[in-house]
Amino acid sequence: MASGLMRCQRLLLLSALLIYAAMQEISAITSDGEALLSFKTSIVGSDGIFQQWRQEDSDPCIWSGVTCDNHTRRVIRLNLSYHKLIGSISPDIGKLSNLKLLALHGNSLYGNIPPEIGNCTELQHVYLQGNYLSESIPPEFGNLWELETLDLSSNTLSGSIPVSLGRLTKLTEFNVSTNFLTGLIPTDGTLSKFTENSFIGNRGLCGKQIHVDCKDEFGSAPGGSGAPSSDNPGNKKPTRNSTRLVISAVATVCALLLVALMCFWGCFLYKKFGKNEIGGLAMDVSGGASIVMFHGDLPYTTKDILKKLETLNDENIIGSGGFGTVYKLAMDDGNVFALKRIIKTNEGLDRFFDRELEILGSIKHRYLVNLRGYCNSPSSKLLLYDFLAGGSLDEALHERSEQLDWDARLNIIMGAAKGLAYLHHDCSPRIIHRDIKSSNILLDGNLDARVSDFGLAKLLEDEESHITTIVAGTFGYLAPEYMQSGRATEKTDVYSFGVLVLEVISGKRPTDSSFIEKGLNIVGWLNFLVVENRQREIIDPQCEGVQLESLDALLSVAIQCVSSNPEDRPTMHRVVQILESEVMTPCPSDFYDSNSE
Ligand SMILES: Nc1ncnc2c1ncn2[C@@H]1O[C@H](COP(=O)(O)OP(=O)(O)O)[C@@H](O)[C@H]1O
Ligand SMILES: *[C@@H]1O[C@H](CO)[C@@H](O)[C@H](O)[C@H]1NC(C)=O
Ligand SMILES: *[C@@H]1O[C@H](CO)[C@@H](O)[C@H](O)[C@H]1NC(C)=O
Ligand SMILES: *[C@@H]1O[C@H](CO)[C@@H](O)[C@H](O)[C@H]1NC(C)=O
Ligand SMILES: *[C@@H]1O[C@H](CO)[C@@H](O)[C@H](O)[C@H]1NC(C)=O
Ligand SMILES: [Mg+2]
Repeated sequence: MASGLMRCQRLLLLSALLIYAAMQEISAITSDGEALLSFKTSIVGSDGIFQQWRQEDSDPCIWSGVTCDNHTRRVIRLNLSYHKLIGSISPDIGKLSNLKLLALHGNSLYGNIPPEIGNCTELQHVYLQGNYLSESIPPEFGNLWELETLDLSSNTLSGSIPVSLGRLTKLTEFNVSTNFLTGLIPTDGTLSKFTENSFIGNRGLCGKQIHVDCKDEFGSAPGGSGAPSSDNPGNKKPTRNSTRLVISAVATVCALLLVALMCFWGCFLYKKFGKNEIGGLAMDVSGGASIVMFHGDLPYTTKDILKKLETLNDENIIGSGGFGTVYKLAMDDGNVFALKRIIKTNEGLDRFFDRELEILGSIKHRYLVNLRGYCNSPSSKLLLYDFLAGGSLDEALHERSEQLDWDARLNIIMGAAKGLAYLHHDCSPRIIHRDIKSSNILLDGNLDARVSDFGLAKLLEDEESHITTIVAGTFGYLAPEYMQSGRATEKTDVYSFGVLVLEVISGKRPTDSSFIEKGLNIVGWLNFLVVENRQREIIDPQCEGVQLESLDALLSVAIQCVSSNPEDRPTMHRVVQILESEVMTPCPSDFYDSNSE
């Protein structure tokens, strides 16, 4: 009897254990599933394709974009092409050891191609074209014995083509076009059978396949920006160090240009589809608008302002930019404001928006364009700023006929530096501008500079992705690491400030066609001049009263600011110090007449 009871107990216990084990089995996802979840984690934006990728599923086979083998339940295909993926490719993808097809093309993936993909030795088709992938092609791809298709075209890959790819005897489709690859195309094995069409649009490549002789092509190109050159252990063709530097410099600049193009395109789409002008200002304010004023020193009632707003029309427009249209608003008492109209895209953001604006409105400084208040209407945000009679620095430098002389330019640089230093170091919370450029430096009647639009880039950024941030900043001013990661820091602002200084002293836009023709932008051109010890030549020949000593000191600051390594850039505090002690104190003995050159 007792033994019967014990047996019964044991049975119960056993079945409980079995049920528990079964449940464990159900709730624990397969290792392929875990690898895919890890892949998903490193993607920060998408069109929503990952919605049904859930941790609770027993295996990933029902997830969209994923295909499993019917018997083994292992993942054999991952197809997420054209799903607006933004982010990097997780190395855990290397754990999908049965993967036969990997299609991630037509997205915005950045960072390197993880060498761990070389672990997926069953791979037959790899499509990674049309992304922003950078660094070099992993030599580990040479381990993918089954590979038939490898399309890496239209990325920003650099370095040379690994010799190991020559081992891939089954490779029939191969495309590395429009990247920034350099060096000799290996002729070993399979690689010998591909023609120009597989390699087009890589200015640094040479070799038999594209009928380009390796030595002569780059011997005379200008050198410069010390970009990281990725060496490939498999590459047996040694190139001279300086040549490699030149090639990688050219490649970097081309990469920047490509990203710029894509950014412009993105900006175009963003403007076209994201911010359609719906009706006029009168419509904005007719449907119930409220006004919030920040500095308590303006004698207007909400009604005064709303009435004035309704009278504004296209004739009052003074400019338009990435964030909207700017109107000139003249009050009856003679005060003038600039009204920036931002069409609302997301209603839900309102409260967040208001809080951030409150912070921006609390900032007041001699070298900043003050935000006076804003108007909240159902269809738009209307930001009220002080109007600056001198217009933007962009116009003053590039559009007006009368030239700024040396002292005026120094004074503008000084003001911009002080405004930015205040944002970075003295206001609370600290603010990263994110969009320093000459059209965001405004001038008052005395040609004193004021920094405008601080904090707006962050405010209008898409929560999910950083892409709008990149769109927001203007190419030519953006630090290389910012374009890579989309992460803005004080040091990315310092870089943009350095570009601004170069623009002011050269009188040329950062992407002026004279730089582009040389395959460079303003920073690349500076770096080239520095190597040749000719940096003074960057000065605008139209600029009168240039002083050699302060020019040298200013150039030295600018060179530090546009250093490719963020840690080598000074803080804005330090920049202001140097400007005050070394640049602004004139030494009248030494005038430099740039017109005599
Ligand atoms: N507070 C202001 N005072 C005078 N002009 C302004 C002011 N704010 C903007 N502007 C003019 O309006 C233009 C558009 O401004 P904005 O929308 O910020 O675009 P962006 O800065 O990209 O040019 C500026 O280039 C400038 O000429
Ligand atoms: C796997 O199963 C699906 C339907 O369940 C079927 O359409 C497909 O052909 C099968 N594939 C293989 C390789 O058996
Ligand atoms: C990937 O999926 C899309 C549809 O989502 C399909 O049109 C395309 O052909 C697939 N690509 C491959 C290589 O299977
Ligand atoms: C995958 O590749 C890396 C480096 O290429 C290697 O260290 C690792 O052991 C490989 N295996 C797995 C299962 O990740
Ligand atoms: C490689 O890709 C480029 C750009 O996407 C395209 O123009 C070219 O025709 C492709 N070459 C081959 C061989 O498919
Ligand atoms: Mg602006």
